[in-house]
Amino acid sequence: PLTVKNLLRYAKSPSATVKEVQGWIKSVRILKKMAFIDLSDGTSSQTLKIVVPRQDGTILKQLRTGQSLKIAEAIWKPTPTREQPFELEAKADDLKILGSVPENYPLQKKYHTLAFLRTLPTLKHRSNYLGALLRFRSIVENSLSEFFTSRDFTKTNPPILTAADCEGAGELFSVNAQSSKGNSDVNSYFGKSTYLTVSGQLHLEVLALALGRCWSLIPCFRAEESDTNRHLSEFWMLEAEISFVDDVRVLTSLVEDGIKHVVQSCLAQKTSIFPTIVPQEGAESPEMAIKLWEDIVNKSWPVLTYTEAISLLEKQHDSIQKFTFPPQWGQALQSEHEKWLASYFNAPVFVIDYPRDCKAFYMKQNSDGKTVACFDLVVPKMGEIVGGSIREDNYELLVQEMERRNMNMPSMEWYLSLRQNGSAPHGGFGLGLERLVAWLFGAQNVRDGVPFYRSANGSIE
Ligand code: 4AD
Ligand code: MG
Repeated sequence: PLTVKNLLRYAKSPSATVKEVQGWIKSVRILKKMAFIDLSDGTSSQTLKIVVPRQDGTILKQLRTGQSLKIAEAIWKPTPTREQPFELEAKADDLKILGSVPENYPLQKKYHTLAFLRTLPTLKHRSNYLGALLRFRSIVENSLSEFFTSRDFTKTNPPILTAADCEGAGELFSVNAQSSKGNSDVNSYFGKSTYLTVSGQLHLEVLALALGRCWSLIPCFRAEESDTNRHLSEFWMLEAEISFVDDVRVLTSLVEDGIKHVVQSCLAQKTSIFPTIVPQEGAESPEMAIKLWEDIVNKSWPVLTYTEAISLLEKQHDSIQKFTFPPQWGQALQSEHEKWLASYFNAPVFVIDYPRDCKAFYMKQNSDGKTVACFDLVVPKMGEIVGGSIREDNYELLVQEMERRNMNMPSMEWYLSLRQNGSAPHGGFGLGLERLVAWLFGAQNVRDGVPFYRSANGSIE
């Protein structure tokens, strides 16, 4: 296809005529003899430079940033002495404005802050930075898919509507069936309590005990009040579930290999990934992000137990740096603790074997009677990006734990029955796609890692 990305790929070939180039005007400068247009079609963070000799009585004077433009024909000229290796030369008569813009079209060539861009949910993706971030997300998704395929996983599809609160954290959005046909006083989903899923895990366990190894990428929903840079109400979770594993280190190795595979693909495409323009406030520069990627693939990632992590944190808290929340065995790790651990090792760090009461009901108990066979992957600046565990596959132990937590047993019968029908040791994990994407891209906020963000204070368009 005649995309900007493709044209740039062949930039070194000799002059040729190209037809039907289309895109949006990023900037336009009209000088005495020439007009210069920067055109983007969204396929690349680079723009096409188009040179048009001036001709009176043509549409040149009507050109504005933001308009969509079609160029019937242009000549592609190598420009070895300039910054860009070639430009397109077009005749003014060959330009056609496809869609105009109002006088106050808000996206101009100048620098816009992310806070401002977030107020433009229908236009912000045309900005250089956020466009690049969405293309990056697509690269990450493709590469994850490649990885799981190469490891014999089946991609599958757990449901979004469910009765189960997988994480038991009570952060559920409930679903009301409100038919547009006028049946308006239905306060539940056809008489059944139903929620948007917080995690596909429980259904993936069913599927893993049929398919052996499976993975999914689905939207998950959490009624999170936390208005932070790492929490969304709707986010995409990649989950994997494997049968016949009983060692959490098998899971941590898989996560490490998977993320390293993604980063290898990023490194292979690094020149086309980053926008040519300076990054946004607070975000890492492309050079820093690439340095981060090199570190990620070159290091092997430390694994430490929760108990070891707590004693490191306590030492730090007592001697050097006070945390807002004093670290204490038995308490969940706070995001400040996670970030400190990752920066201390200057690497992604796996923390394994958390106390049972810090974690969800389904995790397999360790023989110490206090901790469970689980892990979190924590990374510098972002904190937790992956959480997973070996699942309790023993029927009696699982029932005991669920009763201890006062869970609604009848509604979980379908899940429990798995432990009575060819049960097998199994485990898996969930990775927050926006957290991974934001971290790798050097962005500070998961809100920019998803096209339309949903959070307690955001807009709903
Ligand atoms: O740690 P979590 O809650 O684990 C689970 O839900 C397991 N059932 C997954 C599994 O084992 N299949 O969530 C997993 C990951 C987190 O590490 C985080 O990256 C992301 O999902 N996540 C969120 N991302 C954005 N906004 C939120 N509100 C998130 N909550 C979790
Ligand atoms: Mg977690």
